[in-house]
Amino acid sequence: MAWTSALLLLLSASAESQAIHPRPPRKPSIISVDSKAPSDAGIPLEAFVSYSIEFSSFPDFAGNASHPNTFSNNLLNNLGNLTGTKPYIRVGGNTQDYAVFNSSLLDLATIGIVDPAKSPDYPTTLTFGPKYFQSYHTWPDVKFVHGFNLGRNSTAARNALIESVSYACEALAGRLLYWELGNEPDLYSTSSQGAVRPPNWNERWYVHQWLHWTRAIRKAMEKSCPGLASEKEYKYYAPSFANTDATLDPLITWQDGIDKDKDIAVITTHNYISGAEVPGVTLQGTLMNHSSTVESIRPQLNESRLLSALPDRLNPGLPFIMGETNSLYNQGRPGLSNTFGATLWGVDFNLWCATNSIQRVHMHQGTNYRYQAWQPIETNITSKGTKAPYYGSIAVAAFMGDIVTEAPSIVNLPLADEQESAYAAYVDGKLDRVIVINMMEYNATKPNKYINHYPRPVERYEFQLPESCAGKADVQWLMANGSDAITGVTYDGYSYNYELENGMPVRLQNVTRGQTVPVAENGKMWVDVPRSSAAIVRLRK
Ligand SMILES: *[C@@H]1O[C@H](CO)[C@@H](O)[C@H](O)[C@H]1NC(C)=O
Ligand SMILES: *[C@@H]1O[C@H](CO)[C@@H](O)[C@H](O)[C@H]1NC(C)=O
Ligand SMILES: *[C@@H]1O[C@H](CO)[C@@H](O)[C@H](O)[C@H]1NC(C)=O
Ligand SMILES: *[C@@H]1O[C@H](CO)[C@@H](O)[C@H](O)[C@H]1NC(C)=O
Ligand SMILES: *[C@@H]1O[C@H](CO)[C@@H](O)[C@H](O)[C@H]1NC(C)=O
Ligand SMILES: *[C@@H]1O[C@H](CO)[C@@H](O)[C@H](O)[C@H]1NC(C)=O
Ligand SMILES: *[C@@H]1O[C@H](CO)[C@@H](O)[C@H](O)[C@H]1NC(C)=O
Ligand SMILES: *[C@@H]1O[C@H](CO)[C@@H](O)[C@H](O)[C@H]1NC(C)=O
Ligand SMILES: *[C@@H]1O[C@H](CO)[C@@H](O)[C@H](O)[C@H]1NC(C)=O
Ligand SMILES: *[C@@H]1O[C@H](CO)[C@@H](O)[C@H](O)[C@H]1NC(C)=O
Repeated sequence: MAWTSALLLLLSASAESQAIHPRPPRKPSIISVDSKAPSDAGIPLEAFVSYSIEFSSFPDFAGNASHPNTFSNNLLNNLGNLTGTKPYIRVGGNTQDYAVFNSSLLDLATIGIVDPAKSPDYPTTLTFGPKYFQSYHTWPDVKFVHGFNLGRNSTAARNALIESVSYACEALAGRLLYWELGNEPDLYSTSSQGAVRPPNWNERWYVHQWLHWTRAIRKAMEKSCPGLASEKEYKYYAPSFANTDATLDPLITWQDGIDKDKDIAVITTHNYISGAEVPGVTLQGTLMNHSSTVESIRPQLNESRLLSALPDRLNPGLPFIMGETNSLYNQGRPGLSNTFGATLWGVDFNLWCATNSIQRVHMHQGTNYRYQAWQPIETNITSKGTKAPYYGSIAVAAFMGDIVTEAPSIVNLPLADEQESAYAAYVDGKLDRVIVINMMEYNATKPNKYINHYPRPVERYEFQLPESCAGKADVQWLMANGSDAITGVTYDGYSYNYELENGMPVRLQNVTRGQTVPVAENGKMWVDVPRSSAAIVRLRK
């Protein structure tokens, strides 16, 4: 080729690439991965990939004795097959503190009244009867956290709580992980849906009530389920604070002796990156943005650090977990929380938690919620089915591997750009796999900036791995047509969609899988990752 035409080609290529890459050019760098995990690497607990299900929606998700929800169960099995344990299910959320038990409600599991002025998404008046507890029996080998009501403070509601105890403990025997009392009590005096405590609500008062009611519940349990009321078995997830400029400070709560009775097993906190109605929230700026995730969890990490520094008397080194979380509070925003972009956010968010010793993450969901991992039943708002965010749970579970046999050590691999992230997993002291999450937005259906249609750009990620990794590596893709896609998501060529095999894995013939990349003798390796996708690279032993 003559030099002029080569130059022309080069010029046109660079002109084109400027048009195609309107974002600031990414700084390519070599991602260097140590042969051993640092001593402060994150180590997940069993069932790291877990869920929180809205109290009022639980019968929809689980079904009941005559109609167990097998679709939900299949989705939970898929995750259990990857990590060695089916997800733990926390049954709670806002409606946990609205739910009042009525033992005379015999024909229905729940009666809820939705007040659209408070929330169009869930009932803010809720009665549940003995049949509700059937839903704890439909998923084999799943452990639950049952959320008791602390919010409602009328005498009738407090009596109803105690009356519910025998039903709860009988239903949960053999299935119980822990109990919980109250959801986000740090918001009780400020809740936009109606305060349930006066403005002078404070840590001391909360601790007093928490101790009073956990003792009363235990007393009731001693009668109906003495085994579960023993010192060893009677344990809680607490304090489940929302942690957003709230009125109660977790540190003071612990200093005030919330764990006086030594019945807290796990410290739980909640987090939402932002809110569904918050102005300026975008997929790229808020969710597909590693810096935004880092910023968002900073207060929780501060909390975790301060709590772990407390004397043993106040905190005997309890694990710290995310007991409820998802993308955008107020149940998510359509076009954001239900997209493949949110799936990629979920992977980065979960792994950032894991890296920072937040040892389990319960992704929250409810019927018709925009950020749900799946819709368990058909409604006139949302069709029954596996939703894009579920595939984020699958990818995280695949990256964690079998935690029961050997918990991995998870570390973040810092990258230059906020629209990308990478992590490494070490197993048995050795580097086992890495993941790259390319969060640069690429629309599948909506126009992309500057040019309507351009081929999906690919970024190259170059690694310097330990020389011992030389050989071949297997690549598994978390893929969809683009960040705005809400269907057509796959992990490693598999679909878990409802309409295929009721949520069981189905290999799709039109999606690439089985790709390998070479790892050179000197440990150099690269992988080309399309925008808005993620790759898990498994090093061969
Ligand atoms: C996944 O786990 C379930 C329940 O343990 C089991 O029935 C099923 O066969 C497993 N599926 C695969 C693909 O391993
Ligand atoms: C409990 O439910 C029964 C039957 O539905 C109803 O008659 C009764 O009023 C309820 N009790 C309370 C306290 O709401
Ligand atoms: C069990 O679930 C089915 C299907 O949703 C429903 O029709 C039935 O009323 C439920 N039974 C109870 C006791 O709630
Ligand atoms: C009970 O809740 C109401 C708000 O619903 C509040 O005004 C009242 O002070 C509370 N009482 C107690 C004892 O917490
Ligand atoms: C990403 O998040 C960070 C931290 O919240 C923020 O400063 C930055 O502006 C965000 N990026 C975009 C493109 O919005
Ligand atoms: C960390 O938490 C303490 C106690 O809750 C609080 O006073 C402090 O402002 C927090 N610091 C940061 C950086 O969030
Ligand atoms: C949708 O279903 C709900 C409850 O099942 C019902 O109350 C509502 O009227 C229905 N809306 C429409 C538009 O059909
Ligand atoms: C994708 O589409 C959304 C909505 O139209 C738009 O805001 C965004 O900028 C687009 N992304 C790109 C990379 O062009
Ligand atoms: C993804 O893109 C392919 C190729 O353009 C197309 O055939 C397929 O229908 C798309 N899938 C979805 C779910 O839009
Ligand atoms: C692959 O095939 C499935 C159904 O057979 C279709 O829904 C999906 O859009 C296809 N995906 C691509 C990327 O073409």
